[in-house]
Amino acid sequence: AALITEIENATAETPEAVEAFRIRYLGSKNILKPLMGEMRNIPNEQKRDFGQLVNKAKETAQSKFDALQAATQDNAGADAGAKFDLTAPAEPMPLGSRHPIALTMRRIISIFERIGFTVAEGPEVEDDWHNFTAMNTPEDHPARDMQDTFYVATGMPAGPDNADMLLRTHTSSVQARTMETSKPPIRIIAPGRVYRNETISARSHAQFHQVEGLYIAEKCSFADMKATLLHFAREMYGDKTKIRLRPSYFPFTEPSAEMDIWWGLESEHDYRITKGTGWLEILGCGMVDPEVLKNCGIDPEKYTGYAFGMGIERQAMLLYNITDIRLMFENDVRFLKQFSGVI
Ligand code: PHE
Repeated sequence: AALITEIENATAETPEAVEAFRIRYLGSKNILKPLMGEMRNIPNEQKRDFGQLVNKAKETAQSKFDALQAATQDNAGADAGAKFDLTAPAEPMPLGSRHPIALTMRRIISIFERIGFTVAEGPEVEDDWHNFTAMNTPEDHPARDMQDTFYVATGMPAGPDNADMLLRTHTSSVQARTMETSKPPIRIIAPGRVYRNETISARSHAQFHQVEGLYIAEKCSFADMKATLLHFAREMYGDKTKIRLRPSYFPFTEPSAEMDIWWGLESEHDYRITKGTGWLEILGCGMVDPEVLKNCGIDPEKYTGYAFGMGIERQAMLLYNITDIRLMFENDVRFLKQFSGVI
């Protein structure tokens, strides 16, 4: 009977205490069990009363346990409500990040915008005329080979109205479009996506981005081009950056050059892992071929100009130490989120 009172008066405020109660009175080794074993020591005439008392104790334990359990669960609910702090700051919202190509493109655009260039655009599905023919690229030029160019439709002869459609292989097509529709002086840059039928590897991809530059004016010289490109290189890669122009060939420029930057210990990119020390090619350039000016309705006797074109992925890989171009197109968040906070 004392045990029953004990059970009735038991308290348990926490789930742990309720569990202790259960183990003590209802568990597989509960304290009521040995009482049943006592049965055989009880005189016969008292066995019935004793048994009833033990059963009562068991029932009491069970109903007390149910009550305690219900009570602590209510408590837990009430506690959670009390702990809900309405003044706490919200969880931060996960923000996206700019893609390294977008970051690099914006950086290049802003360098040229600050010296008076404006952004021009052209279609990615281009006709043969603007991509090749107007750009003085003869029919048998290797750049027109099926291996390099994704053709959309073929069958018409080359010309301004032809329907030979292709995915533009360079942003130089925007040079032709701009010269056809505007009068010098012309100062444009044309960023955009280009396509080439190339095997995809760590270094090259079938789709990539370029920024084209075009400057046409009276008495524009090779020295003007060099000064502009040196300015660009220093804005882009640090103000101690050295450049080198190497003679090269493009059908649409004469003379043509490729520009290297010195990637060395004195550059601001000493943390780089992409390359050792040396000259690194970053763009193609040259004086616009008079033939191209003529094709696009500009008088080559009156105007001269320069043009340049660069791959954006290449610049991004240098800026951000990216060693595989394919990362740019896989959209793996583990790659992309490394650019969060970069503006
Ligand atoms: N279009 C050339 C290329 O894709 C780059 C270039 C542009 C070279 C303008 C000279 C002038 O490689």
